This record gives sequence, structure tokens and C-alpha cells, in this order.
Amino acid sequence: QLPKKVKIVEVGPRDGLQNEKQLIDANNKIALINKLVDAGLTYVESGSFVSPKWVPQMATSSEIFEKLTKHKGVTYAALTPNMKGFDAAMSVNVDEVAIFGAASQSFSQKNINCSIEESRERFSPVVEAALSKGIKVRGYVSCVVGCPYEGDIAPEAVANVAKKLLDMGCYEISLGDTIGVGTPASVSAMLDAVKAVVPANQLAVHFHDTYGQALTNIYTALSQGITVVDSAVAGLGGCPYAKGASGNVATEDVVYMLNGMGIDSGVDLDKLLEAGWFISDKLNQAPVSKVSQAMRAK
Ligand code: HMG
Ligand code: MG
Repeated sequence: QLPKKVKIVEVGPRDGLQNEKQLIDANNKIALINKLVDAGLTYVESGSFVSPKWVPQMATSSEIFEKLTKHKGVTYAALTPNMKGFDAAMSVNVDEVAIFGAASQSFSQKNINCSIEESRERFSPVVEAALSKGIKVRGYVSCVVGCPYEGDIAPEAVANVAKKLLDMGCYEISLGDTIGVGTPASVSAMLDAVKAVVPANQLAVHFHDTYGQALTNIYTALSQGITVVDSAVAGLGGCPYAKGASGNVATEDVVYMLNGMGIDSGVDLDKLLEAGWFISDKLNQAPVSKVSQAMRAK
């Protein structure tokens, strides 16, 4: 049973651009965000309040939120790994924040410099402060099927971390296949374990397309009752702490697939393609999206 509607969480300006070698200035990022919103995306992860020494590409996040003209009905979100990040996000009126944990200890250490348990100690004041201000918090779990340092990850480990984020107060848990190694079999097994402790309507899926499995994994998730999908325009990016991981599944490819199945995402594919070409030209590279390449060649 497939859903009739799917919500797309556009992570290109954050997950995409955080891992592009070429730095994009705040004005071009804002132009990209505006084009994405104009294409009908209603949730855009627009920045990340992390250490600029760790992720220099996100150093413009305050400037972006300061200069951005927000459109009604659109959520402009950002990552906030600790109170320092949360305070910085609040000072520029970020609409919604996300904390990001991992199902793998080694990845947690490499990515946010602490263990899974320590990460919860950093996250819980963030969630508390956010909820007291009426700010919603999204929770990510990375390495939900595989870890670049530990290999296969047990579905139960993912379920455990996801449940703790839910209990902490996150309204939605985004399950990240950070290195794109999942297949419908491993993704299904992982979702079965997570759905036993987190309701499907509070889950999202976040696939990187390293092994070309993202669309089929999304289809698997949709058929298991998940209706929120993270993706990045032009298939941008990757994760700086997951060597060799390619970008997120391209939003263009997701929208094309949903359109073909008669599932409403509210996104105008033509305008989305324009947004993808805009940022790809700034990066001097071709969009990773197959749909985008096919349509541009026309
Ligand atoms: P730390 O070293 O443990 O933190 O880093 P600390 O509190 O000890 O502070 C160390 C230094 O960082 C200090 O500066 C702090 O001021 C500064 P110094 O005194 O050395 O000059 N600092 C900060 N600066 C700006 N904003 C902050 C902040 N916090 C501390 N919020 C920290 C901890 C998390 C900050 C660090 O490890 C970091 O920035 N990591 C980067 C993590 C990251 O952005 N990863 C990519 C995003 S996650 C992802 O892509 C996966 C996802 O897409 C899902 C998936 O695909 O699986 C979400
Ligand atoms: Mg990611």
C-alpha cells in the first residue's frame, strides 16, 4: 500500500553543500533556497550551526538566516549539535532545528567527537530549550544500515537510538543511510525493527546514493508506510566524516518517481530542475541526478 502524498525534506543547501569542495557564498545559497521554495518545497534544511573548523562550508549559516526573506508556509531548518549551535540558530530565528546522532559508536566519535551516550547529554538541553520556545526538533540517526568504520549495523541498535531521540522530544526521526550501502533487504529489516518502537508516521528516510540503491530503498520505505523522504537537489554532497560517501538521492529523481506513481509531493519538476542547474553551474559540475541530465539533454 503506497501513500497518496509524500513530504520531501530538501537537504541540499545543508547536506549537499556541506561536502562540496567549492565554497558557495551566502547570496548564492539564498538564491538556491528561494528557487527550491519557488519549486514548491515546503521544508528546506538551510544551514548547520557546527564548528566552522570542522565544516567550513556551513560557516555562512548565520548570514543566510539573517538575510533570507522567508515565505509563509515554509520551514527553514538547521542542524544544531549542542547548545552553542542552538543559541546561534535562535539568534537568527531558525524555524526548526535538528540534532544528529548515530547508530554506530565510531561514527559518532568521528562526526561529533563524542560517544552515543555523550551525544544524548549534549542533545537533551537543546531539545529542552527548543521545546520551551515552541521550536520543533527533528532527530537524525546516521549509519542505519552500515558504518564506514564498523561495517554492518544491527537493526536493534538503530531502533534503540531512534526510540531515545523520540523519547527526548523529537517529533520525527530521520533514518540516514549515510554511506548508501543499504538494499531493500537490509532497509526492510531495519525499518521493521524501528517501527516496533517508533510509529511510521514519525519516521523519515534519508538515503545517500553511493551504491545506486536510494530510489529502490525509498520505494521500499514508502511501501512500509513511511511518507517523509529527505533528498538533495542535483544529488549534491555527502558527509565529510564518511569517506567515499556520495550525495543524497537527487530530489529531481525522487519527484520524477513520485509523479510516475501518482503520488503528490507538491513539487514542480521543471522549476526544481532549474534550481538544480543553477547550483550545479555555480559548482561547475553536472547534476548527479539522472532525470536532470536526461531533461537537460532534451
Ligand atoms: P567538540 O570539539 O566536541 O566541541 O566538537 P567543544 O564543545 O569541545 O568545542 C570545540 C571547539 O568548537 C570550540 O572552539 C567551540 O567553540 C567550537 P575553539 O575554542 O576550539 O575555537 N564549537 C562550535 N562552533 C560553532 N558552532 C558550534 C560549536 N560547538 C563547539 N555548534 C562539534 C563538537 C559537534 C561542534 C564538532 O564535532 C563539529 O562541528 N562536528 C561537525 C559535525 C557535522 O557537521 N557533520 C556533518 C553533519 S551530520 C550528517 O551529515 C549526517 C546526516 O546528513 C544524516 C546522514 O546522512 O546519516 C545528518
Ligand atoms: Mg546525510
